[in-house]
Amino acid sequence: MVIIMNQNLVYVKDRLYTKCSDKLQWYDEVIIKQDNYYLREWSPFSSKISAAIKKGFILPDLQNKDVLYLGSSTGTTVSHLSDLEAKSIIGVDISSFTMLPFLELSKKRDNVFPLLFDAGHLEDCDLLKGQKFDFVFQDIAQKNMVETFIDLIKLFAKPGTHAIALKTNSIDSTKQPKQVLDISVRKFQEAKIRVEKVLDLNPFEKNHYFIIVKV
Ligand SMILES: C[S@@+](CC[C@H](N)C(=O)[O-])C[C@H]1O[C@@H](n2cnc3c(N)ncnc32)[C@H](O)[C@@H]1O
Repeated sequence: MVIIMNQNLVYVKDRLYTKCSDKLQWYDEVIIKQDNYYLREWSPFSSKISAAIKKGFILPDLQNKDVLYLGSSTGTTVSHLSDLEAKSIIGVDISSFTMLPFLELSKKRDNVFPLLFDAGHLEDCDLLKGQKFDFVFQDIAQKNMVETFIDLIKLFAKPGTHAIALKTNSIDSTKQPKQVLDISVRKFQEAKIRVEKVLDLNPFEKNHYFIIVKV
């Protein structure tokens, strides 16, 4: 049984896949060949956005949309957003080590753009001056990740849905995850950013929440 959720986001039984025509194999994902296209399994154990979808996140339709992805690493999740036919995905990462494989992904997909930069100082990036994005997603394990995300949302987000993966241990490993979550949610409230939904990513990611905001 194949259920198409939107354009290239597909459920086969209870497993999530993204659809592509070029048989990209980017990490160790399972690939199923169909008549004239391929389905790449988007496992919730490999990607926090996939885990969030499993937990009820309705990913906005990204077709022809501009995405700012903070903490792109080697491109596991970006490769799936690329399948969803976003117009552009700017993948920001501070590590030149992970940026090297990510560069290879950008050579294979013309909607993927690498940006080696510290997300905490993105306001200094001339390339992004004046740009606004339909979907801003952040997945960086930094103590000040919430403050960074709030600043970036104010600078770069178009009205709509945006999200952050919250790794509570990176913020404060001495507090219970729920306590860190509550403090983080309060920061959004103080910044007048509406928290639409919070998802606990257990059992796919321990001590991780997915915070969906609306601006
Ligand atoms: C958990 S990994 C992201 C995995 C990725 N989201 C995926 O699903 O494929 C976190 C990434 O954040 C990056 N990172 C950490 N601090 C950062 C910062 N201040 N600016 C940009 N990237 C940062 C790290 O280099 C690392 O590649």
